[in-house]
Amino acid sequence: IFMLSGCGNSEKASSGAGADEKKVLKVGTDAAFAPFEYMDKGKIVGFDVDFLDAVMKEAGYKHELENIGWDPLFASVQGKQVDLAISGITINDDRKQTYDFSTPYFESTHMIVFKEGTDIKSAEDLKGKKIGVQNGTTGQLAAEKVVGANNNISKYENTAVAFMALENNDVEVVVTDNVVASEFVKNNPNSKVEAIEDKDSFESEFYGLMFPKDSKLKAEFDAAIKEVIESGEYAEIYEKWFGK
Ligand code: ARG
Repeated sequence: IFMLSGCGNSEKASSGAGADEKKVLKVGTDAAFAPFEYMDKGKIVGFDVDFLDAVMKEAGYKHELENIGWDPLFASVQGKQVDLAISGITINDDRKQTYDFSTPYFESTHMIVFKEGTDIKSAEDLKGKKIGVQNGTTGQLAAEKVVGANNNISKYENTAVAFMALENNDVEVVVTDNVVASEFVKNNPNSKVEAIEDKDSFESEFYGLMFPKDSKLKAEFDAAIKEVIESGEYAEIYEKWFGK
């Protein structure tokens, strides 16, 4: 896993305005994407959740995080029912036409997940396979780039359901973000699944916080993210979730 650089130990600056003068921000997520955001005993937890807490504290905001699902997330940000979203959301040109993104906070690429014994050595082997993806993700785009749009691709509401389809043999492969793929393989030894990368076919991409277009929050959060990275707090959260 690649970590963003700049994890020094600079003294933590006290944040600007006091939290009490600012409104409580509403944040949306799709909490079926371990280890970034998922439900554990009724609570949303994950790397993104801890990172968000740190950034909010730095920016001097209180916030409420709500599990609203992936597709509704985009409409909710656009319609300003929430102030921002965090959900392992990849920054790309298409989304940038409708939303503003923070400075990147995590680098990602895609992996192919499949049951042991399936003949998959590279992305090319996706051709002719029954593919599962989470609807509207860059995993869908990555798969479509190889096999063409709608070619044998089943689109699921969330990534957990796509993994279930793989376990049930409804699909032969799932294309999803590398860290999420590795986590699934690690946590499900009995499912006999494995995951491979294909650096030639799958490009690297970056996650950002997603805001409505022209949100005044972006600048504040970019500064807060920078501080969370430079103070070493990012590295602590990273280590908690991914080890050294
Ligand atoms: N990074 C991918 C994308 O932006 C997948 C993100 C899915 N996140 C989630 N919480 N389900 O399309």
